[in-house]
Amino acid sequence: MPIRGRKATKYGFGLLILSLALLLGAVAGVRAADDGIAAGREAFRRNCAVCHGTEGDAKGQVCFVRSVERSGRVMDTYPRDLTVGVFKFRTTPTGCLPTDEDILKIVTDGIPKSSMPTFRDMPLEQRKAIVSYVKTLSERWEEEEPCEGITVKRPEWVGSPASVQRGREVYKDMKCWECHGYEGKGDGPKSAKLKDDWQRPIVPFDFTTGELKRETSPESIYITFTTGLDGTGMPSYAESLNEEDRWHLVSYTLELMGYKAGR
Ligand code: HEC
Ligand code: HEC
Repeated sequence: MPIRGRKATKYGFGLLILSLALLLGAVAGVRAADDGIAAGREAFRRNCAVCHGTEGDAKGQVCFVRSVERSGRVMDTYPRDLTVGVFKFRTTPTGCLPTDEDILKIVTDGIPKSSMPTFRDMPLEQRKAIVSYVKTLSERWEEEEPCEGITVKRPEWVGSPASVQRGREVYKDMKCWECHGYEGKGDGPKSAKLKDDWQRPIVPFDFTTGELKRETSPESIYITFTTGLDGTGMPSYAESLNEEDRWHLVSYTLELMGYKAGR
């Protein structure tokens, strides 16, 4: 009996130590996360606030964004108001929040053709801390479940003359030209009056410039019209076009961008 008793005590003591350790671990974990966000906030204020505002609301920035005029239209997009939680360059379905990797990619690579710079030289830890901090700026991150990125598998025939031809028909039928223009120059009949969700004029992409904001690759073009560019008026075609036609459309978009078929 005494032995058993001693054993039990030992066991109880072990349990106590274990729960103490767990508790300390949890506290340390929370503190580490807080530290990460604090470091992210600090790095955000130093590197991003000049455009996105100290609170991420894109207000009161000292950096006034160039408004390059071309054919009378504003070319540059305004820095994003990150408190709204609406993101363009996601791999997740329309209406969803982006994945951490999506935001990390934006921070790392920047957005070509806009004033959003790259932060490739910033240590990865710091970029990750900034991502954690960006996720505290909008309540959407607390209210919504995360979505998964879509799967992308490029068929071999993308870019073939037959696929370009079919893509041309889809472009016509789906009225991409209403915004992007008949020759993809971004000058379609709807283009002049287009506004984004933040009520600022927005220009449908001019494909003939040959470079996209999201990485320039067949896969990223596919992701763009499968997920939609939330906040821009450019919808998702995941419901209205089958996968095959979306890939034909990739072939035709590449053709409009100046990448010749059959290469
Ligand atoms: C010189 C100005 C400038 C700086 C500095 C800057 N940004 Fe941006 N950022 C922009 C602009 C402009 C856009 C919108 C581009 C567009 O929509 O085409 C943008 C967009 C974004 C987006 C939205 C992407 C999406 O998918 O919708 C995120 C996230 C972002 N920036 C994060 C950051 C972070 C984090 C930093 C600092 C590490 C930073 N930015 C620094 C100008 C800037
Ligand atoms: C209601 C207008 C509208 C329609 C319709 C539309 N788009 Fe767009 N699209 C836009 C706008 C606006 C942008 C630019 C967003 C920006 O610069 O932030 C854009 C950008 C793009 C981009 C470039 C993304 C990048 O990485 O820079 C591609 C590719 C694209 N659209 C393809 C299409 C295709 C294909 C269709 C038809 C299936 C289509 N769009 C229909 C408005 C539209």
